[in-house]
Amino acid sequence: MSALAPLLDKIYALADKDLSDATSLPPEAYHSDALLQREINALFYQDWICAGRADEIPHPYDYMSFDICDQPLILIRGEDGGIRALSNLCRHRMMRLVTGSGNAKSFTCPYHAWCYHHDGHLISAPHMDQTACFEKKDLSLPEVKCEIYEGWIYVSLGADTPPVSERLAALTPLIAPYQMAAYQTIFQETHLWDCNWKSLTENFMESYHLPVAHQQTVGADIVLDETSFARDVTSPHFTYQYFTKAEGAFVGTAHPDNTHLTGQARQRSVMPTIFPSHMYVLAPDHLWYLSLQPRGTGQVEIKYGAALAPEVLAASPDPERLIADVKSFLDKVQEEDRFVVESISQGARAPLAQQGPLSWLEAEAHDFTRYLARRL
Ligand code: FES
Ligand SMILES: [Fe+2]
Repeated sequence: MSALAPLLDKIYALADKDLSDATSLPPEAYHSDALLQREINALFYQDWICAGRADEIPHPYDYMSFDICDQPLILIRGEDGGIRALSNLCRHRMMRLVTGSGNAKSFTCPYHAWCYHHDGHLISAPHMDQTACFEKKDLSLPEVKCEIYEGWIYVSLGADTPPVSERLAALTPLIAPYQMAAYQTIFQETHLWDCNWKSLTENFMESYHLPVAHQQTVGADIVLDETSFARDVTSPHFTYQYFTKAEGAFVGTAHPDNTHLTGQARQRSVMPTIFPSHMYVLAPDHLWYLSLQPRGTGQVEIKYGAALAPEVLAASPDPERLIADVKSFLDKVQEEDRFVVESISQGARAPLAQQGPLSWLEAEAHDFTRYLARRL
């Protein structure tokens, strides 16, 4: 029996319970090295991972680097408008080719100057003329699955992972009314927090903490009685909930120039979590997202960004000011979350730490437990 088996058994048993009998995950799930390795191999190296928004690299040859755990990738927009993902490791001695973002038709390795075309094939390699086993055509950068869905870039290292649109077919009708693909990115950043990646995933999905931990920001305008888990749509690949914003909230309601959303939908946001670690708030006027990667058991790398509906930006007399205001509001929400998730992650290491029962407002956390149980 592997050292991981008792912990996995606890997770399987928990997943079998109804929500009304469910608790949070066992404390050791937040600091077990063996579980983390299993999560990386079974989840992060198999499922679709969100690398950001397609409008981050809008022009031909725009690129950005993005890592899936230990696998560095280059995402690059081709001449045909498509985005491809290549391994960001030199075929000579595994040096990382690029960091950050930019615009380039080729990539030259900073170690010994092997040079790759933007489609991944090796163009040149100095002083390799006496090497019998050097075969340029066999030394291209491996290409990785990459798809655009509703303006998102998803990448997957899984050989058999079905297309995103197939996996998320049940989600499409829930998000389509917002026309999110037209939302315009206003910022994206990468942060490192001191918590297990699951602590932040679970935190972002549930509404229970909003009126308390976020009473200074998003919690002030939330109508918890109108939080809906809409159990009619279920999927092994995502979970979601709807929530409604009160009239007059700073963000979260449709702009008067938005004519495609009607009735109650004008104040309603949908909050999907695409397993394992892509989650967002899709509101009639804005989009706010996180894509998470574990960096050890006690740290998470967060790609954090936001976008605004085009009519919101078009109607603003001072878009720069608007963007700054939205960003400082979301930054504040992020800091409120950081305070709680770093604390609970630390708490999970305490000798007296125990699992606690979940509220009905944490239904999504139990969906997440079930996803973990199915896949680990
Ligand atoms: S490692 Fe890239 S050229 Fe040597
Ligand atoms: Fe939160």
